Parts: sequence; structure tokens; C-alpha cells
Amino acid sequence: MPGEVLQALNIRPAGVYADFTAGGGSHSRAILEQLDQNGRLIAGDRDQSAVQAATTTLTSVGAQAAWEVRHRSFGDLADELVREGIMLDGMLADLGVSSHQLDTPERGYSYKADGPLDMRMDVAQGETASDIVNLRTADELTDIFRRYGEERHARRIADYLVKRRNTRPFFRTLDLADAVATAMPAAARREAQHPARRVFQALRIEVNSELAQLEHLLDRVPALMRDRGRVLFITFHSLEDRLVKRAMTVWQSPCDCPRHLPCTCGQKPLGKQLNRGGVTAGETELKQNRRSKSARLRIFEIRKEQ
Ligand SMILES: C[S@@+](CC[C@H](N)C(=O)[O-])C[C@H]1O[C@@H](n2cnc3c(N)ncnc32)[C@H](O)[C@@H]1O
Repeated sequence: MPGEVLQALNIRPAGVYADFTAGGGSHSRAILEQLDQNGRLIAGDRDQSAVQAATTTLTSVGAQAAWEVRHRSFGDLADELVREGIMLDGMLADLGVSSHQLDTPERGYSYKADGPLDMRMDVAQGETASDIVNLRTADELTDIFRRYGEERHARRIADYLVKRRNTRPFFRTLDLADAVATAMPAAARREAQHPARRVFQALRIEVNSELAQLEHLLDRVPALMRDRGRVLFITFHSLEDRLVKRAMTVWQSPCDCPRHLPCTCGQKPLGKQLNRGGVTAGETELKQNRRSKSARLRIFEIRKEQ
């Protein structure tokens, strides 16, 4: 949604902006093109190949403003900016995986194309999806599928995978997708969406600690933002969206004193939510990018001096 994002950021040409999820760099480029020689853009991504892609995109702008792309998770980048005393006029986090990551079978996100069962955004760090499927207990897998995939048949699938891996562990995406489909009741297998969709989402969230990362970034927002700065989050599923919505509600109304009593907590609002329900992709965007169907943009404006 580069058009909506640009409009919502309400860019000041001499401002400082952060794009925490640079991906291929199209949002970063749109921001950079609006900045003058006093402006600054800090972009980041935890995927080294995205850092390279965004750097190439931004180099082609021939910008007047200062810019850089850092190889960081957004939790770490937010901490780093706070430590460096950098205050932002606007920030964007376009969550989840990029089309490029999804469409590269070697990254292991796809249940439709064969590849290694990896799913790490930063391939230098942490457990792969294969480690999780082959090493966690049936109870742990059930919890992951239920919590992060909202999968109704979590227990049944986990039990099936644990039994199967004793003779043949899981290393490939299509092997796992087939096993998940086999474990499901026949009626669930006939649903319009792929039967392994929710299990793949759950594993991806677990592998990349996606919700913990998001909570970390949301915690840092108050310390990072200047007055009148705009905070933008694009979410792709209800688990992410719930966290962003809850944080923005608290930023807007932090006082939790009983309604019928005078406020004694002294907590001041951080600003205002500009679109309570969030913006979803328009028709043109949907035609160009099928995945934008589930995207929701939430916008918050910081008002420190109210
Ligand atoms: C939907 S894509 C962003 C696309 C980007 N806005 C563009 O214009 O091309 C999401 C990106 O966020 C990155 N990402 C996801 N979680 C992250 C995290 N915790 N820290 C840093 N980058 C993350 C992914 O590696 C991916 O490149």
C-alpha cells in the first residue's frame, strides 16, 4: 500500500523516518523520495537478502537525504535507535514475510512448492521449522498450532506428526504439507484454503518469535517518537492486528482508574488513533497483489503536548 502509507506518514522533508521492515525497499523508496538534504531514513530488516535488495532499490533513488539499511530484527533496531538518541517523525512496520520470501522455495515458507523446512528470516540464527517439528513434544506442537495458527485440529495433527517422525523425520515443506493434510478429518481437507496453511503460519511465527518481536517494538514506540510523528503498522493476521490495536488503544487512553472516580494514575495519552478500524487494501492494490487481501494498516499520531 505505498500510496496509503505515504499519505498516512504525512512526510516532513527534513524529518527522520524509520522503515523497520525494508523488504524489497518499495516503501523505503517512497519515503526517501520525499526527503530533502536535511532528511534521514533508517531502514532495517532481519533478512540479509532483503537488506541487499533494499540497498539496491535505495541506491537507484539518487537521494538528497541520508539513508542506511541495517541488518537487524526490529526489536534490536528499536533498542539501538533509543540508545543512539534518534527520535523519529515517522515509522513503519509492514509485518510478516515478503512476496519474495514466500515465492523462494529454498526459504521453506511455501506449502505449495518443495523446499527445505527452514522458515528463518535471519538464516544465521535460531531453530528451523524442521528442528521444531522433529524435536518438540506433541503437547508443545499442539500449543504452537493452536495459539499461532488457530488450528482446530491441532492435537490430531501434532499426534500424527510425532508418530510419523519416529520412522521418518520431516525435512521438506511438501512432505510436511502432505502429512498435515493426511492427519486432518476428510471434511477439513476439502476446505477452499490449503489444509496446511494454518500449521505453516504457526511454525513461521514460532521460528521467528514474531509476536514477541512485535511486542518489543510496540514497547519502544513511546521512547522513539517525536511530537506529531506518525506510527504505522501493516498487519496480516488477527494475532498481529490484536497486539497493535491493543497497544494503540492503551497509548490513546492509558488511564485505568475506575470511570466513576477522579484519575489518580496521572498517565497521559500519547496521541490519537487516526483510523480506528484500520485501512484495508483498495481494489487496484488487490488486483496487483493478491496477498494484500488480508493487510490492515493502522495509523497513530503522537501528540505529546496535548
Ligand atoms: C511484508 S515484507 C515488507 C515489504 C516492504 N515493505 C517493501 O516495501 O518491500 C516484511 C519484511 O519484514 C521483515 N521482517 C519480518 N519480521 C521482522 C523482524 N522482527 N525484524 C526485522 N525484519 C522483519 C521480513 O524479513 C520481510 O522482509
